[in-house]
Amino acid sequence: MPALVVVGAQWGDEGKGKLVDYLTSSADFVARFQGGNNAGHTLVVDGRKTKLSVMPSGILREECICLIGAGVVVNPDVLIQEIQDLRAAGVSITPARLVIDRDAHIILECHGQVDRAREERKGDKRIGTTGRGIGPAYEDRASRTGIRVGELLQGAALFEHLQEVCEEKDKYLRAVLESDVRVDFALEKKRLERAVELLSPYIGNVSLTLDRAVKRNARIVFEGAQGTLLDQAHGTVPFVTSSHTIAGAVTVGCGVGARVIDYTLGVAKAYTTRVGSGPFPTEELGASGDAMRERGAEFGTVTGRSRRCGWFDAFALQRAVRLNGLDGVAMTKLDVLSGFDELKVCIGYKKNGIDLEDLPTLAAELEEVVPQYIVLKGWSEDVSKISAWEDLPANLIQYLKIIEEIVACPIVIASIGAERESTLFSSAGKFVKSFVD
Ligand code: GDP
Ligand code: IMO
Ligand code: MG
Repeated sequence: MPALVVVGAQWGDEGKGKLVDYLTSSADFVARFQGGNNAGHTLVVDGRKTKLSVMPSGILREECICLIGAGVVVNPDVLIQEIQDLRAAGVSITPARLVIDRDAHIILECHGQVDRAREERKGDKRIGTTGRGIGPAYEDRASRTGIRVGELLQGAALFEHLQEVCEEKDKYLRAVLESDVRVDFALEKKRLERAVELLSPYIGNVSLTLDRAVKRNARIVFEGAQGTLLDQAHGTVPFVTSSHTIAGAVTVGCGVGARVIDYTLGVAKAYTTRVGSGPFPTEELGASGDAMRERGAEFGTVTGRSRRCGWFDAFALQRAVRLNGLDGVAMTKLDVLSGFDELKVCIGYKKNGIDLEDLPTLAAELEEVVPQYIVLKGWSEDVSKISAWEDLPANLIQYLKIIEEIVACPIVIASIGAERESTLFSSAGKFVKSFVD
């Protein structure tokens, strides 16, 4: 049946897109199960960059069918633009290759207006959202007032529903957020009319499609967005996104049972980055953090914001192993660490001199922890051209070994470059490797 889940094990931008693109070389399906265009997944193939935010990262693989599950929030304009850009780059996109679940929710312009007005009002206390309306769209799903993709096929009823949502958002912006921003119904209607025209052929039933796929033993990759520490319940609340980002979200986000999943791969960067506000215990504000940012080109795909950088946090990864039930870890951007004499790895937190068992979930408490580090030897070799695990520098292998011992989960992939093929498997990576064989 093989079904593989790929999730972010940190605060997002771990390199999920690169790995999903690589791992879908012989996959039949790739499915997104949560998030929206807050995600920015960069694929690099033969030097050419493709940036995706809603489209699943298997789209460059002609044989792979891309599914957008019910758990995703879809901004129609953004998806239409992605389809057009991909087509312009020679990628074939047809209803046979792309299915958007009828129960996925639509992000309206007014969701973005509410998101941004709230952030502005919060001032110093802002979450640092992407401003894409993700939170308000998920709120409307929870309050049972949101518009679903399937409604694009409902004719006049769609616009009656739209009017209700727009009126409510306009009142909210004015009365609660005290904002001057007004909801523009005519614009919202135009956007949805365009969505009706251009997206209708792609609307389908992802749960049913996957059920049939599972029964015929198809290869499926589930692609996560964001990362474990941004999960709306288990992350660093309130500095999180508004969806569940952990592997358990696959079932609700695609309408499949838990038994469908054979293997869960967590993607972790060889150091740590975070975009937006919120506690970040291993953050490096000095020269080492700047070096990571520069060498790793740590600037957001979606908003262009510079990413905060810091040392690898194995204590946080332990939590990600547990929350996702990880079977293996893919460690990315190891090439970026070449040239550091020493590398710090966080192995625990102390608060008031006492060792903590787990990450505190109150942001104020997490701000106070003192990370406990071990210091490992770095490596100076350029690793980006290495083609076998055994040829990696001894100190790099030691770095991986120590981390996998701490987190009690095997590191099965070492990523040493942004290119699709700059991906090495360890001997423990047989299951994942079978996806590309
Ligand atoms: P995602 O959101 O998890 O898909 O990650 P992003 O695409 O936002 O950010 C990861 C960035 O690092 C992208 O620009 C990738 O092209 C790049 N990348 C991925 N893996 C590697 C790697 O192993 N080495 C280097 N140098 N870059 C990588
Ligand atoms: P990918 O899939 C990194 C962060 C935002 C903010 C918080 C809430 O590329 O890894 P939101 O707009 O979701 O309400 O913002 O979550 N965030 C991400 N950070 N990578 C992402 O996605 C992110 N998606 C949201 O910066 O701190
Ligand atoms: Mg990203």
